[in-house]
Amino acid sequence: MTRDMTSVPRRALGRTGWRVSPLGLGCASYWAKPRFAEAKARAVLAAALESGITVLDTGASYAHGHAERRLGRLLRELGADPGALLIGTKAGTVADARGRLGKDFRPATVTAQVEGSLRALGLERLPLLQLHGPEPKDLTDDLRTALDRLRAEGKVDLLGLNGFAPVIRHAIGLTPFDVLMPFLSVLDPGTRPLVAAAHDAGQGVLVAGPLARMAFAPPLALWLTRPSGLWYLARAMRHGPGPMLRAQRLRPALRAEGWTPAGLAMAWVLEQPGVDCAVFGTTRPGHIADLAVAASRRLPDAVRTAVARVHDRAPANARA
Ligand SMILES: NC(=O)c1ccc[n+]([C@@H]2O[C@H](COP(=O)([O-])OP(=O)(O)OC[C@H]3O[C@@H](n4cnc5c(N)ncnc54)[C@H](OP(=O)(O)O)[C@@H]3O)[C@@H](O)[C@H]2O)c1
Repeated sequence: MTRDMTSVPRRALGRTGWRVSPLGLGCASYWAKPRFAEAKARAVLAAALESGITVLDTGASYAHGHAERRLGRLLRELGADPGALLIGTKAGTVADARGRLGKDFRPATVTAQVEGSLRALGLERLPLLQLHGPEPKDLTDDLRTALDRLRAEGKVDLLGLNGFAPVIRHAIGLTPFDVLMPFLSVLDPGTRPLVAAAHDAGQGVLVAGPLARMAFAPPLALWLTRPSGLWYLARAMRHGPGPMLRAQRLRPALRAEGWTPAGLAMAWVLEQPGVDCAVFGTTRPGHIADLAVAASRRLPDAVRTAVARVHDRAPANARA
């Protein structure tokens, strides 16, 4: 069975003219942290490129700028051709004097962040710039004009935004956004109609959090023995026990011979209408191989049925 995606068809990213791999690597989270050894981060990125991944997602604020600098540095070290990659970064999250993160979507801030991202990544043009978690009210005419200007100046190619359902709904068909990045996973399937509507409007759809963060990771005991596991666990618990309990209910549905639960969770996301690429995070090359296999296979019918049964029993707020 193929361990990479070179034989898996690229997907059209909406009407942008780009064709992308169905999987994208999140150069974020624990991967981006200085305490995650550079050699390990390099091995993960190398495995992603070798497996045929062409989408790399990062952000100006990730690991206080370390993510972009690491990504730029490692791509150069690995001799990657940036022209063949959709490198996406994000603007709009800023740190205050104490390092606490907040949102700032004023045109001057976003423009300054773009200049910083170009320097950090070592690029002359950002293939994709996304707004990082705006509210609908943040998408002012001034901001949209500033984004158009950045494109006209040749500093960015595609424009997009990442966020929760209200802003994704607001941005469907809205210029200048070529790409939208909602959260979607087997655990949180509620954005499916928005994904389909964005696709119908000609926008590309990159999915964030397709593995529901760490919900389908190996047993808890394993997580407690690894620094990255502890970090992911602490982050997951910030949302309370709800997602973990829902994951518990889904776990029996995500079983099939020759598949891992994470592979099934990924295959489920990739077959949702309108999804062009699912961007996942990992600290292990072996997990990339697992997901690359999943991306090259069809979700077993029995799993689709079992997942749908769990979704049908879920409270309405988990579905809409
Ligand atoms: N979360 C956000 O707020 C946000 C916002 C905007 C964009 N994004 C983008 O979305 C990306 C993905 O989001 P995310 O990292 O929060 O969540 P995710 O991709 O849904 O889940 C990541 C978790 O899944 C585990 N994992 C990965 N592959 C696995 C496999 N084959 N088997 C078992 N476990 C596996 C990882 O652990 P291991 O390290 O052990 O593999 C990690 O704990 C981010 O990297 C970022 O680029 C996220």
